[in-house]
Amino acid sequence: MRISEPTVVASLAEMNVELQHGAALAELTSLGIGGTTDLLRIKKHESLPDLLNLLDAHHIPHKFLGGGSNLLVGDGELPWAVLQLVRPEPHVVLDGNFAHVDAAADLGRMITFCAKNDLGGMEGLIGVPGTVGGALRMNAGAYGMQIGSHVRQVKLYRAATRKLETLRGHQISFEYRHTSFAPDDMMLSVILELPSKPFKLILEGIRICNEKRRSSQPLGQKSAGCIFKNPPGDSAGRLIDELGLKGLSVGDARVSDRHANFFVNAGQASAKDMLALIADVRERVQKNFGVELENEVVVWNA
Ligand code: EPU
Repeated sequence: MRISEPTVVASLAEMNVELQHGAALAELTSLGIGGTTDLLRIKKHESLPDLLNLLDAHHIPHKFLGGGSNLLVGDGELPWAVLQLVRPEPHVVLDGNFAHVDAAADLGRMITFCAKNDLGGMEGLIGVPGTVGGALRMNAGAYGMQIGSHVRQVKLYRAATRKLETLRGHQISFEYRHTSFAPDDMMLSVILELPSKPFKLILEGIRICNEKRRSSQPLGQKSAGCIFKNPPGDSAGRLIDELGLKGLSVGDARVSDRHANFFVNAGQASAKDMLALIADVRERVQKNFGVELENEVVVWNA
């Protein structure tokens, strides 16, 4: 999708939105897969309602990108523009046990910053890549912790009302890798309430989780984390492993040798390769165990 109409380009500049032509989504996603499109980098939350009205008025389809770490994007020229928030500095402001965090903040950096200020509760999430907004939308979790447990308030752009809104924690439902946000709502900022804990103790928790993660997940390779959600009471990784599918490949898309629910881009994998691998594994699990695996990874395919 190319934005070339002069009136649109001029309006974007007025809104302080940076237009980057032909951005490679492969460079903006942890899988290293994805075609090209125009990228709109948003510097001020307040410009969102006008920006989205402008895009709608000119029939420019769009999608909202967080940190790109749980995302599989299609190949080639993509049929929608991509919107991304620019991370402000500072990205976290503390007020007692409350952390006011921008959605564009890096999740790991935010957890570390809070830890240094003796605020814990999210040690398990330290190795989860991506932004705070992305973690919120999916209710990211690991090692018995989930971000939703700490959310007290969320500011977002609501697609349904086309306005910036503020929701209290109790107005949002956070479930296993699922929230009540609509798919095209855009997370803007959040207030988290975190328990006080000495930095040393938090560090110890972080160290333990890091070790567990290092020993069981392919951290150095290009992946989107777990591809499938765990079926109730079981582990997708265990089921795939039991079928002997570690190492199964389509082109350079490959089931990790370390953790069978991580599919890695071992070179120049295309989205087509990765989607074929996902379909193949899903079918085999269905056939052998009667379990229909649901994607955890978000797929943007034309
Ligand atoms: N297992 C295997 N073979 C494998 C992988 C796992 O036999 O290839 C077995 C393990 O030995 C263990 C069980 O399956 O007995 C569970 O494995 P693990 O502890 O690695 O947890 P998981 O259920 O596979 C979940 C989350 C991860 C999160 C870890 C740690 C999902 C889909 N996955 O994985 O989250 O990091 O627990 O809390 O919920 C993600 O969301 O992208 C993700 C990676």
